[in-house]
Amino acid sequence: MEEARWRIINPDGVRRVVITKELPGSRWLQYLVDADCRVEICTSTEILTQEQIASAIGDRCDGVIGQLTETWGEPLFSKLSAAGARAYSNYAVGYDNVDVAAASRHRIPVGNTPGVLTGATAEMAAALTLAAARRIGEAERFLRAGKYRTWLPTLFLGELLRGKTVGVIGAGRIGAAYARIMVEGYKMNLVYFSLHPNPALETFVSAYGRFLDSCGEPPVTWERADTIAALLEKADCVSIHTVLNDSTRHMIDSRRLQKMKKTGILVNTSRGPVIDEAALVDHCRKHPDFRAGLDVFEDEPNLAPGLAELDNVVIVPHIASATNWSREGMATLAAANVAALLQGYPAWQRAEISAFLEDHPPKAAPSIVNADEVGIGQYSDRPTSRPHFIET
Ligand code: DGY
Repeated sequence: MEEARWRIINPDGVRRVVITKELPGSRWLQYLVDADCRVEICTSTEILTQEQIASAIGDRCDGVIGQLTETWGEPLFSKLSAAGARAYSNYAVGYDNVDVAAASRHRIPVGNTPGVLTGATAEMAAALTLAAARRIGEAERFLRAGKYRTWLPTLFLGELLRGKTVGVIGAGRIGAAYARIMVEGYKMNLVYFSLHPNPALETFVSAYGRFLDSCGEPPVTWERADTIAALLEKADCVSIHTVLNDSTRHMIDSRRLQKMKKTGILVNTSRGPVIDEAALVDHCRKHPDFRAGLDVFEDEPNLAPGLAELDNVVIVPHIASATNWSREGMATLAAANVAALLQGYPAWQRAEISAFLEDHPPKAAPSIVNADEVGIGQYSDRPTSRPHFIET
């Protein structure tokens, strides 16, 4: 393991913030420098070990921005707490790599970065759906291998999405954005499964259906499935947008894959372990007309044996949020979380976060997942009498 290298910005800053990877953009750094932080950034692209992170935290550290590739559990939060830290932010919207209960026990607020990667992730899920339906990966490999001899009526026949049914598991922000792309773009009917109904999404599909009807086109419809099995049986393509936790791990296993249509398409841009990847490999081998589009994998960066050889699977390396705007936005929100907490500001806790991407951001931490547990007050538009510091 090569030794981690670090870059230091604003060496005389009074608060010490450790960032375990280089981040894109510049606004995020300005937030931290404006909050009088000395910023120490790891320039190595290797995943840091627990020992390397603990050594970077050292005896005194005020805050950290960490990565989804790192395990943030009891050992690191107790180290952070002993170093006097008052802030941690994941550079991700998902935080299944973080033991939030452990952070709360140590009174350390945990931030994440919602709202800036909704469109990018939904677009990638749509791109994977189209790539799978139209066999783009397979066709591109064929062409690059010099195998294209002539146009043929039977060359790479795929599936038309228009008028078919899209299934969405998890209709939160990203799931709903994906559903809208598929309904509006490809006139697909929607079936969704979600713990909570999404009335805004239902209203959108109903209104769009009425609009199509008024144009003399077949209207689109929506339905909320009672069970995942009912959705899998009905949908022509299924996209997963759940969080990863004990209730969603291996949510799609061989039993549920068998419920899907033989020409079905399964797309995953959420977290790899939601699908039993070995079962998916087996299913794709047995059903060559079944297709999958995957951005995330069960044991990243490794792929289940056989996955990479399957022609009916299109795979990309966890890049759904990888647009400049989204990744810079994620950096801005993560830094705003840490800078705000270190200045004693309350938590914003609103879905609309665009004010943090502009000059003069609100004096608040954009998204703190354990604000209640660690006793951080909620931002109000009225000026607060004194800043809120967490007592240790
Ligand atoms: C996230 O933010 O959780 C994504 O997986 C990475 O962008």
